[in-house]
Amino acid sequence: MSVKGKVALVTGAGTGIGKATTEYMRAAGAHVVAGLFTEAERSPTSSFPQRLLDVRLQADWDDAIAYCRGEFGGLDILVNNAGILIEGSVEETTDETWDLILDVNLKGLFRGCRSVIPEMRQRGGGVIVNVASIDALSGAIRHLAYSTSKGGVTALTRSLATDHAGDGIRVNAICPGTIETPMVEKMFQDSGDSVAAREISIAKHPLGRLGIAEEVASVIAFLCSSDASFVTGQSISVDGGRSIR
Ligand code: NAI
Repeated sequence: MSVKGKVALVTGAGTGIGKATTEYMRAAGAHVVAGLFTEAERSPTSSFPQRLLDVRLQADWDDAIAYCRGEFGGLDILVNNAGILIEGSVEETTDETWDLILDVNLKGLFRGCRSVIPEMRQRGGGVIVNVASIDALSGAIRHLAYSTSKGGVTALTRSLATDHAGDGIRVNAICPGTIETPMVEKMFQDSGDSVAAREISIAKHPLGRLGIAEEVASVIAFLCSSDASFVTGQSISVDGGRSIR
């Protein structure tokens, strides 16, 4: 798989799928810049650069891209991984919660794509991978705003891929099932019976278990690599078969 020597920026890289992706891509030979949401997520022993990047702030995007340009001469790959989950049905969702989820999960990603496209075009091409969700494809109980944001991610992915194929820029999304990360652990805890919630979730996956972050990272890395050179505009499920049920 070839991401060797490529410059990659990963958002939400302090934990979970983002952290696993930075480590996977680094091991595959990419120059990875980890975008962290908080100072507390910074690892003092990290073998790659870490930049604070709140995807809601255009200034943070400008700073991260300027860093990639200054350190590595540009940017080849963007992994839009940052995301938040706040559960709720339509009646439980306040305007503030709706706006926050859409701002991080969808508008944050839009800002990122808008920021990197000129850089990639200048280099003659690039790759964007957007992290959507199984919730973009099927209904999930009390995930109203989250599912809406992730459905938007898959639509945005197709639209971007269409607009920028001629620039040599491929854009794909991935739709993970339930993956063992801090986000999911919190969801189980919030249910009031984390053991039962985990069992219910496992039962939805034909492979009979939850996924781990590295199993998503490897698919992200594949989509970023030249091995996926004829793949664009797709939303690829990484879900233990959940979407075929
Ligand atoms: P996580 O909670 O470990 O990771 C999310 C990361 O995003 C955290 O590092 C967090 O600090 C960061 N973040 C939050 N707000 C941010 C902001 N405004 N700017 C920049 N970073 C911000 O959870 P996980 O599971 O690793 O999530 C990664 C992505 O995968 C998310 O987009 C999530 O929606 C998606 N996903 C996760 C699934 C799962 O089962 N874990 C299933 C489907 C999708």
